[in-house]
Amino acid sequence: MNRKELIRRYLEFFKSKNHKVIPNASLIPENDPSALFISAGMHPLVPFLLGQPHPLGKRLCNVQKCVRTTDIKEVGDNCHHTFIEMLGNWSLGDYGKKEAIEYSFEFLTKVLKIPKEKIEITCFKGGTNAPKDTESADIWKSLGIKKIKFLGKEDNWWGPIGKTGPCGPDTEMFVNNIEIWNNVFMEYNKTSKGKFEELKQKNVDTGMGVERTIAILNNLDDNYLTECFKPVIEKIEMLSLHKYDESAEIKKSMRIIADHIRAAVFILAEGITPSNTEQGYVLRRLIRRTITYGRELKIKNFVSKVAEPVFKIYDDYPELKKNKKKILKELEKEEEKFLKTLEKGIRLAEKLALKNTFISGKDSFLLYQSYGIPIEVTKEIVSKWGGKVDKKEFQKELAKHQKLSRTATAGRFKSGLADSSEATTKLHTATHLLLAALRKILKDKTIMQKGSNITAERLRLDFSFPRKLTENEIKKVEDLVNSEIKKCSKVIKKEMPPAQAKKIGASGIFDSKYGYKVSVYSIGNFSKEICAGPHVQNTKELGKFRIIKEESVGAGARRIKAVLE
Ligand code: ALA
Repeated sequence: MNRKELIRRYLEFFKSKNHKVIPNASLIPENDPSALFISAGMHPLVPFLLGQPHPLGKRLCNVQKCVRTTDIKEVGDNCHHTFIEMLGNWSLGDYGKKEAIEYSFEFLTKVLKIPKEKIEITCFKGGTNAPKDTESADIWKSLGIKKIKFLGKEDNWWGPIGKTGPCGPDTEMFVNNIEIWNNVFMEYNKTSKGKFEELKQKNVDTGMGVERTIAILNNLDDNYLTECFKPVIEKIEMLSLHKYDESAEIKKSMRIIADHIRAAVFILAEGITPSNTEQGYVLRRLIRRTITYGRELKIKNFVSKVAEPVFKIYDDYPELKKNKKKILKELEKEEEKFLKTLEKGIRLAEKLALKNTFISGKDSFLLYQSYGIPIEVTKEIVSKWGGKVDKKEFQKELAKHQKLSRTATAGRFKSGLADSSEATTKLHTATHLLLAALRKILKDKTIMQKGSNITAERLRLDFSFPRKLTENEIKKVEDLVNSEIKKCSKVIKKEMPPAQAKKIGASGIFDSKYGYKVSVYSIGNFSKEICAGPHVQNTKELGKFRIIKEESVGAGARRIKAVLE
């Protein structure tokens, strides 16, 4: 079975069990500032797992693109990746463990035809927050599964994604010692105080890895030999004149290159470009790591060439096809830029090695931090001059730095959506007012939202518009939003089919993103927008609106940052 067939069969199977297919959402979380990327199929569903009704009902399924930066260190083995596709089915307070496990069993054994003797299961052995999950184990047993293990929280508990949110014990399915599917019983909400509160709505959240499952179905013990990677590996072989199987080191370098380039292509397709902050920084790291591993294979100016097969493998993603030229160009630009820095760094390393054959940890860290040169490369350069590096001290410096960046990340979480939902909810409503005001003041009804990101401190709205706004226009937009706030308008939510939403003039992008029903939020007569919420009930809750920045974000798009005071 190939990748497209697996996805098709999975969705068909769950459709036959009364699930509705939801869209494969953008990799960039819309209103969750605590995370840079969507890392699981459940991620865009958090409000619905916490109890908000989903317009498509209580049974959902999809295939979701995900980026998992936490797995970057594992990349190089046979089954961990920074980008994955995840198949998922959800029960939002509908079915429970029994049906969830029975569906999984039926799909694995009847549709995928995996013999039940090959399936091994793990269940939660219990802990301070939840009891031992004998119920799941008993269901598996009743289906004829023999190999069942109970494990603790490190293995059989999933979530929350950030510091807070839905989570719970899980039961995992393994074939040939590889976990391919996970059923999470999301029955808890972790609060900002670290407490696990039982949710009123008991959910099921599942995730099946496409790459791993395809490998198993094709009797391969290496995801890189599947159609998801093979053409990329072959391209690297062709360019480097090395063979994938030549040695463990060569194999590892080729895997890292193939993994990172695939992730980079998908991130670029979201309109993200390499930079030193947030998503752009992750992207930059992925591309630069690709280049340094390419150096191991003695290839240069190769990144866009290796990216080429990714577009063919994933020709079912329109965002890849549409942005191909731009994506390849960005890759080339970043490689050119990095090669220059890399050369500088290499020259500095050589100079240091000539001065003293022993490179201190501080210096090798400087080479890593400022020039992006991994310690292995520094080691290789200085060894040519008979030098050595202080790896131990380097590790110490690195650990110090990581601690600092972890503290910074913790700060990010602190200002995140889950901990400050009141502030973010207000800014979310203000974003609707802003979009409506832009359309009115700029006299352009075709202005569309191109992206939104909200933290507790500010809103950020990207919208389609061809030119810079004048100071006068910015002032007028600000004044109009404030006058709407002062009107104390009610915010009203109505559910309707997308066609009706379009008819009544609600803004939103009318494409495959929406299902049978959408929620339309109206603010007085001023704004009507399709949205999943959450919103305040009355604009009087918002306070004073102020625009703090207006800038370009590429051709035909502008960005406004604004605050409520
Ligand atoms: N959310 C669960 C996972 O990512 C299913 O494994």
